[in-house]
Amino acid sequence: MKFFIDTANLEQITEAQNLGILDGVTTNPSLMAKEGITGDSNIISHYKKICEIVDGDVSAEVISTEFDGMVEEGNRLSKISDQIVVKIPMTKNGVRALKYFSNNNIKTNCTLIFSPGQALLAAKSGANYVSPFIGRLDDISSDGLSLISEIRQIFDNFNFKTEILSASIRHNMHIIDCAKIGSDVVTAPLSSIVGLLNHPLTDSGLKKFLDDHKKGNF
Ligand code: E4P
Repeated sequence: MKFFIDTANLEQITEAQNLGILDGVTTNPSLMAKEGITGDSNIISHYKKICEIVDGDVSAEVISTEFDGMVEEGNRLSKISDQIVVKIPMTKNGVRALKYFSNNNIKTNCTLIFSPGQALLAAKSGANYVSPFIGRLDDISSDGLSLISEIRQIFDNFNFKTEILSASIRHNMHIIDCAKIGSDVVTAPLSSIVGLLNHPLTDSGLKKFLDDHKKGNF
C-alpha cells in the first residue's frame, strides 16, 4: 500500500519524505489556503517546491467547475512536472474532464467521492486515482470504510486499473483498516502516519534493553 501525505506544509512533507516511506502528496484548496498560498504564481511555485521534495505523485486540484476551465487549469498544472496529478471534483463536468485528460495521457485523481457509483463513473472515465473520503462519511454517521470495501469489490470485478486513494483519514486505525481492505493508497496527515510507530510495549521494552545494557557496563 502506498503512503501519501495530505498536506501542503513543506516541513511536514520533508519530515515524511525523510522517514523514507513517502510515495506522494495530496493537496486541496483548503490545505493550500491553510499554508497561506494564494494567487496563480504562488500556487505554481509551491507545487514546484513540493515536487522537488518528494519522488512520487503530487495531486494538484483545479478550482474551476466548468469543463473548459478544468481543462485549461489542468493542462497548466500538468506542465509543472511529470509528478503532477490533476485533481478533479466528481461532477458531470469533472467526469468529462477526466476523460479528456485520460485521452491526453495526463494523470488524474477524482476527488470528493462518497458513493460506489461515483467511483465507478470516475474509473470508467479513466481516472488514475479515486479519492473516497472516509472521515467525512464517518462524521455524518455513515460508514466510510464500507465504501472502500465496495469500491475494492467493483474495481476487482472488472480489473479497473484506477487506484483507490483513501482520503479524509482521521486516525491510525483508518490506515490499518484501509490496508486490510486492500486500498491501493492512503493519504493521511503526518500525525496519523507517525502514530503508527507508537506502542507502549515498544517504549517499555526499549527502556529495559537500554537499562540492562547500562547495568552490564558496570
Ligand atoms: C483528499 O485528497 C483530501 O485532501 C482530504 O483527505 C480531505 O480530508 P478532510 O476531510 O480531513 O478535509
